[in-house]
Amino acid sequence: MAEVVVRNLVKTYAASAHRATDDVSLEVADGEFVVLVGPSGCGKTTLLRMVAGLETPDSGTVHIGGRDVTGLPARQRRVSMVFQSYAIFPHMRVRQNIGFGLAMRKVDRQELERRVQRAAELLQLEDYLDRFPAQLSGGQRQRVAVARAIVVDADVLLMDEPLSNLDALLRLQFRTELKKLVRQLGTTTLYVTHDQAEAMSLGDRVAVMRDGRIAQIGTPLAVYDRPDEQFVGGFLGAPPMNFFPAQVRLRGADPQLVVGEDTWPAPAHLKAYADRSVLVGVRAENIQVTADPPAAGPGAQPGWSAAVVEVVEPTGAAVLLTVRLDTHQLKVQAPPGFPARPDDTVWLRSAPEMLRFFDPETSLALVTT
Ligand SMILES: Nc1ncnc2c1ncn2[C@@H]1O[C@H](COP(=O)(O)OP(=O)(O)O)[C@@H](O)[C@H]1O
Ligand SMILES: [Mg+2]
Repeated sequence: MAEVVVRNLVKTYAASAHRATDDVSLEVADGEFVVLVGPSGCGKTTLLRMVAGLETPDSGTVHIGGRDVTGLPARQRRVSMVFQSYAIFPHMRVRQNIGFGLAMRKVDRQELERRVQRAAELLQLEDYLDRFPAQLSGGQRQRVAVARAIVVDADVLLMDEPLSNLDALLRLQFRTELKKLVRQLGTTTLYVTHDQAEAMSLGDRVAVMRDGRIAQIGTPLAVYDRPDEQFVGGFLGAPPMNFFPAQVRLRGADPQLVVGEDTWPAPAHLKAYADRSVLVGVRAENIQVTADPPAAGPGAQPGWSAAVVEVVEPTGAAVLLTVRLDTHQLKVQAPPGFPARPDDTVWLRSAPEMLRFFDPETSLALVTT
């Protein structure tokens, strides 16, 4: 096992005008599971392949277990990689496929068999060892690819969208199994996916990439709850974070948000932004919603806004409402069975501490401490 330290990796492909990775730095601790997530083309595969030694950076370094491996070929890096395309050999049985890396390393026969057996057990492939890949389901083939990667006892496991060829249900099942497996192995793992739900569920930490750089890295919940930029809040979560502009106004010493015709209480730190426009970010589940007009008068909770329901989507565990608030469309998560139909009026509010704020010009989170 080993930690991975990536410093200032820059890579521009010959055919391309822009940088595939643009000064990326990243540290993966020994035994940690870090997920790189981001839209297609943001540089995830390129970064992973540079760690693997399959791609040469223009500049920057890669250290694995304290050793500078930047100039070393893949086979000297003690890394093991699983590709999206499985890349298992159709003419070899499962047993030979799993043992391939060990055979290449001239591991002795008994040891090889013992390790193949152990990997097959971990991935529930014992009953399929004598089959050819064509006689397996997609999920089983993917297991073979993972078994082949873990069997060699590499210091670092690198996986590039290993679940993307599976259908939705298998993806969910295998995701859970993979998480358990990686925990058992305790191997340092760097994992690539474009699927934000997969990233959140698997990673000890998640690195959200955009345009060749890491926009934010942190624990799944930290990144989900406190995005450093609008892009991150909009990329993580289903539905993504809601965003709408508001004006900050002081009433006495208290900052308030002007949203359309209404005013909402705002956290105290927004005082510094008095009389300025901010972009408000709020998650669907952090908006309270009621079908009855909220009580008015003294002691009533402030900050309710009327909104018009446009779409009602029951998900089973909740009801997802698309509503229009002033000129803005928001997604709101209501409890299951919430009585709303299109064109109904509902009332919304959000606790001030659940709101996030971004600079409308730069889209970066406002400094809030
Ligand atoms: N072999 C290549 N030659 C030229 N451009 C490439 C090559 N591989 C990737 N790219 C480009 O580099 C950028 C990053 O690609 P990639 O790392 O594959 O992104 P991701 O894995 O996040 O989808 C993209 O703009 C892509 O088109
Ligand atoms: Mg890729």
